[in-house]
Amino acid sequence: MTLLAFFEADRRAIEETLDRLLPAADTPPASVHQAMRYSVFAGGKRIRPILCLETAQIFGAQAQAALTVGCAIEFIHTYSLIHDDLPALDNDDLRRGRPTCHKAFGEATAILAGDALLTLAFETLAAAPLDAERRVAIIHEVAGAAGTRGGMVGGQVADLEAEGKPIEPTLLEFIHRAKTAALIRAAVVAGALSGGAAEADLERLRRFGEEIGWAFQVVDDILDVEESSAALGKTAGKDIAQKKATYPALYGLERSRAFAQDLLARAIAALEPYGARADNLRALARFLVTRRA
Ligand code: IPE
Ligand code: IPE
Ligand code: MG
Ligand code: MG
Ligand code: MG
Repeated sequence: MTLLAFFEADRRAIEETLDRLLPAADTPPASVHQAMRYSVFAGGKRIRPILCLETAQIFGAQAQAALTVGCAIEFIHTYSLIHDDLPALDNDDLRRGRPTCHKAFGEATAILAGDALLTLAFETLAAAPLDAERRVAIIHEVAGAAGTRGGMVGGQVADLEAEGKPIEPTLLEFIHRAKTAALIRAAVVAGALSGGAAEADLERLRRFGEEIGWAFQVVDDILDVEESSAALGKTAGKDIAQKKATYPALYGLERSRAFAQDLLARAIAALEPYGARADNLRALARFLVTRRA
């Protein structure tokens, strides 16, 4: 986690903003607010808001808008994890080093806490300190990335339906780009939009976000095989046990690692026009592929 220490200032600002945006734990009905806070503050890496902030900074933007937007995306991400862990989906007991939300609060509250985080995300985006045109563009980008047509929910559906079946490479690509890369790409594009990027920049950063987001899920699959539950803070070895469609299952670990490196190289190539202004984003991209948790 050493590289994340480099982004410590971002992380501190993100934690403060998440805390400010979430309803207080004693706001009625308290159970759902406690569950939302429990899962948001369980210690995630905050990769998506950091990507959003660092992308905005390429364009010299004020941090405030990108912080708000990045935190809204972190709410969607946390909701996706709460629902991913439910018995009807991956049926996981451990998340971010703690019992999963449904283990701690029961299934009904966990489902509703997920719903509430998704809704809070869009309430937050609608009130972000940006002009109306940028806000609508961001909402459009994020909603698409969270949805069914190439977005997170669509990827989760395909992931579940692929369990136990022979792995088809084009479907595997779809699953990874949809369930994970889409929201990571949206964090980058929304950061660029918050920073006032022009059309050509959006195109380049969209490519960067897509490739690094895809690599991120390939690495998640590799770590599921190679690391311990203690290191990951979530149950290791689940993908083989559940016969998930993953890169290691289809190609083995070595080819999967090489593929993640190819995607990283493609992501970094998209940043070429930004020179030193994109150094933080490059460092972050390398971290996302070399991380061990
Ligand atoms: C885990 O995401 C789920 C995937 C999309 C692979 P992260 O690895 O970003 O999880 P946290 O937020 O750090 O817990
Ligand atoms: C989940 O993929 C991606 C989401 C959209 C939540 P995984 O099911 O592999 O994520 P982990 O390994 O449980 O974090
Ligand atoms: Mg899953
Ligand atoms: Mg899972
Ligand atoms: Mg996984």
